[in-house]
Amino acid sequence: MTMTVNAANLYQRVSHVVPAVEWITMADDVEAILQLKRERNAVILAHNYMTPEIFHAVADITGDSLALAREAVNVDADVIVLAGVHFMAETAKLLNPGKTVLIPDLASGCSLAESITPADVRALRAANPGVPVVTYVNTSAAVKAESDLCCTSGNAVEVIESLGVPKVIMIPDQYLAANIARQTGVEVITHPGACEVHERFTPADITDLRESWPGVTVLAHPECPPAVVDVADYAGSTAQMVDFVATRQPERVALITECSMSDNVAQQFPGTEFVRPCNLCPHMKRNTLASIRHALETMTNEVTVPADVADRARTAVERMLEVKVTK
Ligand code: 13P
Ligand code: SF4
Repeated sequence: MTMTVNAANLYQRVSHVVPAVEWITMADDVEAILQLKRERNAVILAHNYMTPEIFHAVADITGDSLALAREAVNVDADVIVLAGVHFMAETAKLLNPGKTVLIPDLASGCSLAESITPADVRALRAANPGVPVVTYVNTSAAVKAESDLCCTSGNAVEVIESLGVPKVIMIPDQYLAANIARQTGVEVITHPGACEVHERFTPADITDLRESWPGVTVLAHPECPPAVVDVADYAGSTAQMVDFVATRQPERVALITECSMSDNVAQQFPGTEFVRPCNLCPHMKRNTLASIRHALETMTNEVTVPADVADRARTAVERMLEVKVTK
């Protein structure tokens, strides 16, 4: 099989992590997706955890959960393919309801979203009257609909501080809630949810890393347990990790998060060595070139939000987007 000029040019973007022999097997899907995007008037919004061939070769907009939500509002195209997980596609649909939103694999869930139901939120409210409910975007639209406003890992501090109250219900990630409580001094009531990717990191992993890679700067995602954040040099969302590397230019860095993150950003920062301890998110990895191509060929799987939920869930997300964030 030979590569077209277009495929050969695109390969330059991923050659740091994708062997040429593998790219040859991908090029056909990449070309088909680019063609289908034109035919369907579609854009691909891709989370930072997508594999490099998705992130660099077919995505139109990439970023963390906050950036994808902000960008979804401004999409003009008829179709949004959300290369990420189900809650991200629901958020895009809430924010731009006139668009057709597709997800490559309907089973792309999230352990956090699955940890909590609308009834759980109502029970927390009943047990804590008058305490505002701040819900992580990693939840279903039905859970968002029971909430006062949402947050992401990129704006959680600002969202909590914007309320000006001493106590909040912050759900469903017990670790994000604990980390943000320490940063803001606001008391949090939370829920026993966790990200199955980030909860597996331990302080011992960080100690091992520092021994094996002297001088390494450790950046941890705030979905990691507080004991991990304690021994890291910095904690922030996936986009904040990129900003940290861009501004501080560490010689050697470890991103304590999902595996594709380092693969995707390494090329942008040739002066930084990326040490790659990581855990895979099986839900994110359901996005493949083949599943994206299939979604665009068949115009499946469409993500919709029931009308009785959509208005209330949209309000919670829009209130989040109104909160000013320094970054
Ligand atoms: P951010 O990209 O917003 O940091 O979120 C990480 C994550 O786990 C998304 O599912
Ligand atoms: Fe959910 Fe964690 Fe996967 Fe993100 S990385 S989708 S929070 S399970």
